[in-house]
Amino acid sequence: MPMTVLMETILVIEDDTSLREVLCTVLQTGGFAVHSAASAEESLPILKVERLDCILADFKLPGMHGIELLRKVREQFPRLPYVLMTAFGSVAVAVEAMKSGATDYISKPFEPSTLGSMLRDVIKHNRIIDREGADRAKRQRGFFTVSPALEKILAQARHVAKVDSSVLILGESGTGKEVLARYLHEHSERRDKPFVAVNCAAIPQDLLESEFFGHEAGAFTGATQSRVGVLELASAGTVFLDEVGDMPPLLQVKLLRALQEHEIRHVGGNKQIRVYPRIIAATNRDVEAEIASGEMREDFYYRLAVITFNLPPLRERKEDILPMVERSIRHFAATMGKENITIDPVAQDMLLSYSWPGNVRELENVIERAVLMCDHVIQAEHLGIYVRLDLAAIEESIKTLPEIASQAVHKAEAQAIERALHVTGGNKSKAAEILGVSYKTLLNKVKEYNIACGDRHDSHDDGAKS
Ligand SMILES: Nc1ncnc2c1ncn2[C@@H]1O[C@H](COP(=O)(O)OP(=O)(O)OP(=O)(O)O)[C@@H](O)[C@H]1O
Ligand SMILES: [Mg+2]
Repeated sequence: MPMTVLMETILVIEDDTSLREVLCTVLQTGGFAVHSAASAEESLPILKVERLDCILADFKLPGMHGIELLRKVREQFPRLPYVLMTAFGSVAVAVEAMKSGATDYISKPFEPSTLGSMLRDVIKHNRIIDREGADRAKRQRGFFTVSPALEKILAQARHVAKVDSSVLILGESGTGKEVLARYLHEHSERRDKPFVAVNCAAIPQDLLESEFFGHEAGAFTGATQSRVGVLELASAGTVFLDEVGDMPPLLQVKLLRALQEHEIRHVGGNKQIRVYPRIIAATNRDVEAEIASGEMREDFYYRLAVITFNLPPLRERKEDILPMVERSIRHFAATMGKENITIDPVAQDMLLSYSWPGNVRELENVIERAVLMCDHVIQAEHLGIYVRLDLAAIEESIKTLPEIASQAVHKAEAQAIERALHVTGGNKSKAAEILGVSYKTLLNKVKEYNIACGDRHDSHDDGAKS
């Protein structure tokens, strides 16, 4: 059977005609689909219509400068891999490029034959390292909360932001650890310097060292160019070590030494380079268990955890749920061009009683889908979440009178249904009869309350079977 191979599409922006043609030919031969432009202005219409996987653009362009174009592209495509070709290759240019949102850079002259594998790497890698440090939309929206506990954490964070001490952020997945890390950076003196996020769990082990410390050309197979590592790149800024619990212990040792001595060497190089990055680390793992099992070195942990923030899960700050929902509705309605979206009270109740294992990230996904699916009013069925009624937790969580009333009704109904199913041996038709509701109503409620009942008597008509 023939296989369809999806080709990755590159846009080459280079004013030097012969170089541009060489690049296009090399990339086409390497299996890419290629568009090209001789200037930033010429590239704009292509950017509008084509679905691109990566942009390879000269740093110096006639008319609109390469950096200016990069900023423009970033506003619309915050995560599109963007590689700048620089003639200088100095750290200053690299830093300028990264600050403006480049994914990576390559210094001219370079060996065109290595370009294909480099771009493939960048396209793949872009999902791992966010050197640019900004899903700009995310940053602009900032850290949102109405919870007194979190407001207190934010106040402490603003305070801590001013000093360079390392910070460790703990919390379940989706609780906003990265959002808080950016908040710290934005409130620090370093806000105009790079924020470089490294996902320690996603980088192949053999590349981690070079990623942090940089490497010299020829240091290992595939290292065709020398490269600046993140510690050097963010020497005046912030390095965000995401999922730090997944960093191999050997690298923890090396990183610890580098942070203590403020000194690094490129892989394959001898020169000592002084670095002063601010370190913010995050993990959703149980750090104490990791230390006990030896996965996290204690000395490394103490270096990171000078200050620790623990972000509570959404289910422990229910007061945040509806305001966040409101904010997400506004956001997604605006991006989808929908107006006057409201949410039905039953759906609101459901959002409040849901346990949110994926926290704020999950809430945003749920609302995005709901805004997309609804006409004007978000109903329970647009949410796609399944509220499991936790009877034991009800007493603890209820606060307001309407909440108490609705929970009490749910609880009483669920118990009555369970009892009826028990006495009828799981026969839903008979249970419905006893409870004085239709078979369909009973089914709905069984589903709503997630009541366990064997499927032996599932059929309406043959309730007497077995
Ligand atoms: N307090 C908040 N204010 C605004 N947005 C938030 C907040 N918390 C989380 N988010 C949203 O949820 C998403 C996930 O947050 P973030 O990436 O910080 O989670 P995380 O704690 O790093 O999770 P993981 O451990 O899975 O990486 C963000 O993209 C952001 O849109
Ligand atoms: Mg994260």
